[in-house]
Amino acid sequence: MKNKLTLIQKNSLESIQKCDSSADLEQIRIDVLGRKGELTTILRTLKDLSPEEKSEIGKLSNVVKTSINEAIDNRKDEIEREILQKRLSEEWIDVTLDGTPEFPSDNGFVHPLSQIQHEIEDIFTSMGFSVLDGPEVETEYYNFEALNIPKHHPARDMQDTFWTEDNNLLRTHTSAIQVRGMEKNSPPFRVIGPGRVFRYEATDASHENTFYQVEGMMIDKEISVANLIFFMKTLLKEIFKCDVKIRLRPGYFPFVEPGFELDINCLICGGSGCSVCKQTGWVELLPCGLVHPNVLKQGGINPDEWSGFAFGLGLNRLVMMGYGINDIRHFQSGDIRFVQQF
Ligand code: PHE
Repeated sequence: MKNKLTLIQKNSLESIQKCDSSADLEQIRIDVLGRKGELTTILRTLKDLSPEEKSEIGKLSNVVKTSINEAIDNRKDEIEREILQKRLSEEWIDVTLDGTPEFPSDNGFVHPLSQIQHEIEDIFTSMGFSVLDGPEVETEYYNFEALNIPKHHPARDMQDTFWTEDNNLLRTHTSAIQVRGMEKNSPPFRVIGPGRVFRYEATDASHENTFYQVEGMMIDKEISVANLIFFMKTLLKEIFKCDVKIRLRPGYFPFVEPGFELDINCLICGGSGCSVCKQTGWVELLPCGLVHPNVLKQGGINPDEWSGFAFGLGLNRLVMMGYGINDIRHFQSGDIRFVQQF
């Protein structure tokens, strides 16, 4: 009897150790310790034994029972821990890792036109200019009349534009900010005015109905073309990080006299001629001139005492030159692949 009990114990403990599911362990418990289990069945024959044997076997059977129950419980714990461990290693997520965004640019970034605008603002503020703003919907007065472009002047046709029903217009140039600059400041002063401008324009690779300019105006005593050239050269040197050759050609704008087109030596071919400069070696970059006395008068400034220069820098052209972009329509295309490159 004793031997049978120790054999049951030995076999049970062995199969418990080999077992790897809680359900199987419970089955072992039933098979051995259950009402019809191996051990229970043997113990039923206890009644045929002597009292000494009864008590000895009774004690032993309790030890066996306890050891089997403990072994089952321990093994169950082990199995549960193993399952948990397995899940942890399989389903482990490193929450400190970055996500995988659909676009690498999900964080947002600054548009190349804004980048160049900020750069120009920095350059001019470091030279004592302040930055002015103006509305995109302007009155005829600020956009044309105060700039020496009266009604029916042919210069209006060149900038034919979008009108609102109450006879205001989308500004055609940032020169409207010059007028506001003269109203706000008394000479001497230096201002720049960056902004978006609009024209009724058939679009192609170099024309857009919406583009960006930075206006500049400096009013002081005895301002001459030499001052204008100095500031323009300084600006180009800062932007392109090299000395850029420039030339001035006469250009007509009613609000400057004399007026110029400032060309720069083509940065793509270095001046030898290419498709960007149309084989001329020069690229038209910036209209400018000395402020017309009529404009000064309109702005409440005495032209006998003060003079000044003004310029209107096209930002789209500048970015296109800097990066070799061949179509102005990219800027407003909304194509994320375009803007992502800067
Ligand atoms: N406002 C002019 C344009 O957009 C450019 C310009 C500005 C010319 C200042 C001279 C002086 O065409």
